[in-house]
Amino acid sequence: MPRRPAAPAGHGSAMEAPDDLDQCPLMPTYGPPQVRFVRGEGSRLWDADGKEYLDLLSGLAVTSLGHSHPAVADALDAQARTLVHVSNLFGSGPGWEVAVTLDRLLGAGGQVFFANSGAEANECAIKLARKWGGRGRHVVVSAFGSFHGRTLATLHATGQPAKHEAFQPLPEGFRHVAWNDLDALEASIDPTVAAVLLEPVQGEGGVMPATVEYFAGVRRLCDERGLLFMVDEVQTGLGRTGKWFGHQHFGVVPDVVTMAKALGNGVPIGACWARADVAGVFEPGDHATTFGGQPLATAAARAVLTVMEDEDVPRRATEAGAALTAGLEGLPGVTGVRGLGLLLAAQLVDGIDARAVAAEALNRGLVVNAVTPTAIRLAPSLLVSPAEIAEAITVLAAAMGDVTSTVTPDAGQVLLVEDTA
Ligand SMILES: Cc1ncc(COP(=O)(O)O)c(C=O)c1O
Repeated sequence: MPRRPAAPAGHGSAMEAPDDLDQCPLMPTYGPPQVRFVRGEGSRLWDADGKEYLDLLSGLAVTSLGHSHPAVADALDAQARTLVHVSNLFGSGPGWEVAVTLDRLLGAGGQVFFANSGAEANECAIKLARKWGGRGRHVVVSAFGSFHGRTLATLHATGQPAKHEAFQPLPEGFRHVAWNDLDALEASIDPTVAAVLLEPVQGEGGVMPATVEYFAGVRRLCDERGLLFMVDEVQTGLGRTGKWFGHQHFGVVPDVVTMAKALGNGVPIGACWARADVAGVFEPGDHATTFGGQPLATAAARAVLTVMEDEDVPRRATEAGAALTAGLEGLPGVTGVRGLGLLLAAQLVDGIDARAVAAEALNRGLVVNAVTPTAIRLAPSLLVSPAEIAEAITVLAAAMGDVTSTVTPDAGQVLLVEDTA
């Protein structure tokens, strides 16, 4: 078995002595963890040594209601004691209600397919586009910088060629164009194109929002050329950006919308929604998944959506997002803040390494991530409090201070930040 790189000091847990890493049973698709979390509540996490952390990343925009939300825990408990799973050959559970709620939040009459992840939700969208387009009209155009998943098809839809290298040949039928560039999109359209697939904010691509003009233009172009406009809301959906769905900032109605992450607040579930006449091209046998829409996952999703509506999470994301943006903008090491609602990236002054800042923040008990080498991503719980935001800003200031004070300033490029800790 290949040796796994040694974990940094402090990562050990009760179940794992450092030597065990040599015989790690997990494939090395992630680097060694800096910390092992064992418990979570609201915006707080605890590691195996009992150290407390403030989580402003939410498992990459997943735990939008915070960790271990009691309503979701209760729903899981009750459903686990009632019915966990039956085949999709039979009707069951709360999936029907979840689909009705999602359709209402999307504001247009459509139908839902339940999957188990974001990539699978996008696979459904891609297959739908191919069936809808018909033979010879199957190409999906997406944007450079996008991220749509790691299955072979969604990897090819992902507009990051470096990620494709090792996995050629990828499934045929994907094309990439410059982000936020309507002319480039128009130039890419030929009779083989069936659909356009875009994120409202490119999350993994660095938290890069679409412009209103771009999304409006894409909708117009799709109408003119008879293409599906498919929007990947896996990271942006369900209140995170300050609207129920990110595309609602841009005044467009897509034909297909995919989502996952926040829908189960950590319980694996994804969904692909499509306008009814588009969804209607699927026939029994065209698409399926054993676990999709099963009672346990949809019970979690039903509880999540109920809390989200009760708490009016889009409003909360708007208000908390404004406070977090203001706090970040006030940090001397930050040159700008981009994003929507509570999906934000703080661009750092040239010369400050975002990975070093994220690592130092973690040391200090704050969870964020370096979405690019020069930007920190923040995606807190949508129920994050003003006090938690203030605390995060204080820790980030200290972490940046620590990092910048260890960097040799390059002719004034690096702004020294006072260490406030
Ligand atoms: C926009 C977007 N689409 C798709 C995915 C893939 O989702 P999953 O990891 O659940 O397959 C992600 C994951 O980060 C994402 O951000």
